[in-house]
Amino acid sequence: MEKIIIEGGYRLEGELPISGAKNAALPLMCAGLLTKGGLTLHNLPNLADIKTLASLLTELGCHITYEKDGWDRGLGQSMTIKADHITSTTAPYDIVRKMRASILVLGPLLAREGEAIVSLPGGCAIGNRPIDLHLKGFEDIGASIELKEGYVRSSGKLRGGTIYFPTVSVGATENILMAACLAQGTTTIENAAKEPEITDLAQCLVAMGAKITGIGSSRLVVEGVPELHGAEYTVMPDRIEAGSYAVAAAMTHGELELIGKNLPEVMTGTLGILKKAGLTFINTDKGLITRLTNDKIIGINAVTNPYPGFPTDMQAQLMAMMTLCEGASVITETIFENRFMHVPELCRMGADITINGSTATIRGIKRLLGAPVMATDLRASMSLVLAGLAAEDITEVNRIYHLDRGYERLVQKLEACGAKISRMKTDNI
Ligand code: EPZ
Repeated sequence: MEKIIIEGGYRLEGELPISGAKNAALPLMCAGLLTKGGLTLHNLPNLADIKTLASLLTELGCHITYEKDGWDRGLGQSMTIKADHITSTTAPYDIVRKMRASILVLGPLLAREGEAIVSLPGGCAIGNRPIDLHLKGFEDIGASIELKEGYVRSSGKLRGGTIYFPTVSVGATENILMAACLAQGTTTIENAAKEPEITDLAQCLVAMGAKITGIGSSRLVVEGVPELHGAEYTVMPDRIEAGSYAVAAAMTHGELELIGKNLPEVMTGTLGILKKAGLTFINTDKGLITRLTNDKIIGINAVTNPYPGFPTDMQAQLMAMMTLCEGASVITETIFENRFMHVPELCRMGADITINGSTATIRGIKRLLGAPVMATDLRASMSLVLAGLAAEDITEVNRIYHLDRGYERLVQKLEACGAKISRMKTDNI
């Protein structure tokens, strides 16, 4: 195991490069299954989840090549996925349980091969994460679905249809969108999720020859085509990583220039709330400068919602910042049923937070105190790092494998901006 050690109280200043978005890269990689022509993706983040998915795609018969990691050129890595011969249509439990996004191979396999056997992903720290909306959607476009021994067995020739999602689901929208590209006829997806990562996926599919209208809206219409051709596509910047580091600048009373293309556009849901909390954002030709407007964090009320609302993936990071607010703040989590795992750990650092159901009330305090804390999931671990950057003395964040799933080169990026942070091996927890 490894842990991160932070000596808090140092202002962050300078340029901080934002990596390609994990939650765009994962579905984009799955889209590589839809064509024999080869899909080249640029600006992929160098993350554990990307490697896990690449190993799954290889097991399915894809040939994956990497260009030299573009980090030294200020870019992510480039990857080409060649799926000319799919040799397996099974996504095994030991991979899917590690990374839920593996479920996104279901749609492409069904569309390409007429069958897919994918392990049910199971729950995770933040909730039980069902996939009923995915499965209902596939049935609506002609697939037969059978659940057996913890696996989804799906098969059938996909035909166009109309799908209405009663709950907005990012993954279900992505899965159906990819499958519909090769279905016979036209598919309409009503109440589709509108996250920028879905727009990124749709634009890449169009570059591969898909016929999709309504991109960016909650109504996607896909006219199926017999096949898709190869393409090249550059992954959008990670809006959640950018929001996380904006919080880091505010909590350390510093100033960062977040480097990434069209960050203001993709950060819509986040910027509004952070501005209300007292942050200033200035567009530059390289990205976005951010700092506290009047050197104080203002207590606000926030509710997580599907895009363009405040993203649930920023909830833990906002809460870390609100521990130091003037006055009090109320944060309500509406997307996942168990996404307050960071609260007891923040309280160990002196935060004053009380939870009532899906609502947390945070009363601002003057200073957080460093302490050994435990990461429980990806975004909770980032909230603990943020608290450590602002806290007095030393904070140790344990179980940082959670962080490696979503934050590329976190220690290097923060150290380069003035943080006193390092990672080391540990033999306990
Ligand atoms: C994606 O997960 C993201 N992951 C999550 O980011 C993000 O928190 C989530 O969208 C919401 O924005 C990736 O993109 C890889 P959902 P996903 O389907 O697709 C319920 C991170 O930290 N639901 O939009 O799994 C579900 O339980 C991760 O980067 C069903 O009931 O999320 C949840 O309550 C965490 N049935 C709500 O919908 C279904 O079939 C939204 O889930 C599917 C979902």
